[in-house]
Amino acid sequence: MPGPSSIAGYAIVSADGMLADANRRIPDSLKIEADQKFFHNALDRAAAVVHGRHSHEGGPGAARRHRLIVTRRIAALSPDTRHPNSLLWNPKGASLEEAWALLGVPAGPLAVIGGPDVYGLFLDIGYDKFHLSRVAGVRIPGGRPVFPGIGPRRSPEDVLANHGLKPGAERVLDQAAGATLVSWRR
Ligand SMILES: NC(=O)c1ccc[n+]([C@@H]2O[C@H](COP(=O)([O-])OP(=O)(O)OC[C@H]3O[C@@H](n4cnc5c(N)ncnc54)[C@H](OP(=O)(O)O)[C@@H]3O)[C@@H](O)[C@H]2O)c1
Repeated sequence: MPGPSSIAGYAIVSADGMLADANRRIPDSLKIEADQKFFHNALDRAAAVVHGRHSHEGGPGAARRHRLIVTRRIAALSPDTRHPNSLLWNPKGASLEEAWALLGVPAGPLAVIGGPDVYGLFLDIGYDKFHLSRVAGVRIPGGRPVFPGIGPRRSPEDVLANHGLKPGAERVLDQAAGATLVSWRR
């Protein structure tokens, strides 16, 4: 059964590997215009996006996109009445390929946009790429980590390397904000 042609993750994190605070709020210090532009342009090229309940990307292009919303509230697959072109998906009850087929999208890339458990789920399914943006100087103690198990002894980079990905060159997104982007590839 066909699935996406490739799988790519997108996240922006603090120096200590957090993507939001404990209340699921993304601090303004992680909202970097150049990163938002990179992110939304990439989503426009994806065949579909996948995310958990609190990680809808919003923005003007969102309604056009096909999406899988990961949830435990249903057994396997179910239409989503709250968002256009969307399907609710419980990975315990249906494979990614089954979800992709029912979503009915043409061949193309899948963009994984969070949150932590969804990023973690796709570490097991397998990323072809992971685009990790980071804002140096921002720390979010007690925040929500980009991957499960991130802490003082385990960085997001450790997790990506342990899952077979290799870093590309660091790109500067915003010098003044200290924001950089590294694309990891299989
Ligand atoms: N900085 C960044 O790049 C970035 C990226 C993404 C998100 N964020 C932020 O980070 C926060 C993340 O929120 P969150 O931690 O609540 O994550 P989330 O993934 O948005 O939502 C969690 C929900 O997703 C579903 N889910 C997740 N993993 C699942 C799995 N393996 N199987 C079935 N269902 C699963 C569950 O939904 P049900 O309860 O329906 O079962 C779970 O309650 C938000 O504030 C978001 O805005 C930041």
